[in-house]
Amino acid sequence: MSPLRTQVGIVGAGPAGLLLSQLLHNAGIESVVLERHDRAYVEGRIRAGVLEQGTVDLLTAAGVGARLQREGLVHEGVEVALDGRRHRIDMKALTGGSCVTVYGQTQIQKDLFERRFGDNANIVLEAAPVSLHDVETDRPSLRYLRDGVEHRVDCDFIAGCDGFHGICRASIPADRLDLFERVYPFAWLGILANTRPVSDELVYTSSPRGFALFSMRSTRVSRLYLQCTPDEDLNEWSDDRIWTELQRRLGPEASAGMETGPSTEKSIAPMRSFVAEPMRWGNLFLAGDAAHIVPPTGAKGLNLAVADVRVLAQAFDTYYRTGSADRLDAYSDTCLKRVWKAQRFSWWLTSLLHRFPDRSAFDGRVQRAELQYVLDSAAGQQTLAENYTGLPFGG
Ligand code: APR
Ligand code: PHB
Repeated sequence: MSPLRTQVGIVGAGPAGLLLSQLLHNAGIESVVLERHDRAYVEGRIRAGVLEQGTVDLLTAAGVGARLQREGLVHEGVEVALDGRRHRIDMKALTGGSCVTVYGQTQIQKDLFERRFGDNANIVLEAAPVSLHDVETDRPSLRYLRDGVEHRVDCDFIAGCDGFHGICRASIPADRLDLFERVYPFAWLGILANTRPVSDELVYTSSPRGFALFSMRSTRVSRLYLQCTPDEDLNEWSDDRIWTELQRRLGPEASAGMETGPSTEKSIAPMRSFVAEPMRWGNLFLAGDAAHIVPPTGAKGLNLAVADVRVLAQAFDTYYRTGSADRLDAYSDTCLKRVWKAQRFSWWLTSLLHRFPDRSAFDGRVQRAELQYVLDSAAGQQTLAENYTGLPFGG
């Protein structure tokens, strides 16, 4: 087995891993990406689709934003429905010009693969299992099996971009990590449908029957979610039942004229908040879902992954140009500051909009009053808008 040598060994070809390899390539730094699954599997996963302006700017500057610029839908506002009435939050006006762009993560994944393969990037698909070695030395390595043959990649650093269930965080000794977690007592049932979205903007809906979200992938494709129980049986949810429930939660007036149609995808996603600290062990750096998970309310997952790899790529760049490891040493603290602010926002928006099965009548009234305050107050709306469109990278 003759080992391959590279500067940064990246585990995982999700958005975090592929974008990191692109940013490193742009800075003249070599990497090898090891991915457990095949390309069709990675590209097929349906995830959220709301990009902060900073995410759009970074993808564009990295050279993977051309289609996003053409096809992404720029949203200047977002709606919140309460008691069947829709309230618009004018994000652009409230933040002094910030918007979000609606563009599916599936499309970002495709754009990244296309660009990386176009540059002849070294991406090994169906590498399984991957293992990490000598992480606490300055000669770490990755090993993997492909078609029954063992391979080794020697590197200076390892980037753990292998998602929540990956091997990188799992390789860190338990006494070197602090884990913070909250599991919510509900899940989201999501469908895709080739129907016109009920509004030009996303509608986050609070109702006594539970939360619902009316999102989209384009002006012809809707993405819809319903709060459900974590152990809900998908087979019990026919398309008819889902559309009826969506209409009930949004209310007759607000859902008037809503186009319905067969779903093209249907799934249930659990809701969790999770952070592992620090985001580094020896020469292994965790990025994206490998280090943190947010509940989908607010769609911060991909945006956080992009913010991590931005900081990490800059730190590697500084290291290789100047020999200084200062930015690598600051990586975890720099990212965690912003991660915790996004965690707080995702937890807050989740708590504000969902029906909690065990909440007391008093807590229910307080929740409602808080949502009414946010909708009625300029300061409340501004808080939501500022967090939704994305906090500054430095903050
Ligand atoms: N070896 C190699 N690859 C692995 C392993 C492993 N042991 N375990 C997981 N992977 C791969 C997965 O197959 C996947 O392609 O790592 C990749 C991780 O990708 P994501 O889960 O998409 O995580 P990340 O790149 O951090 O993206 C974060 O994705 O999950 C959403 O909401 C999240 O939008 C956010 C974004
Ligand atoms: C989505 O379109 O999938 C989506 C949008 C907003 C969210 C979560 C998911 O908060």
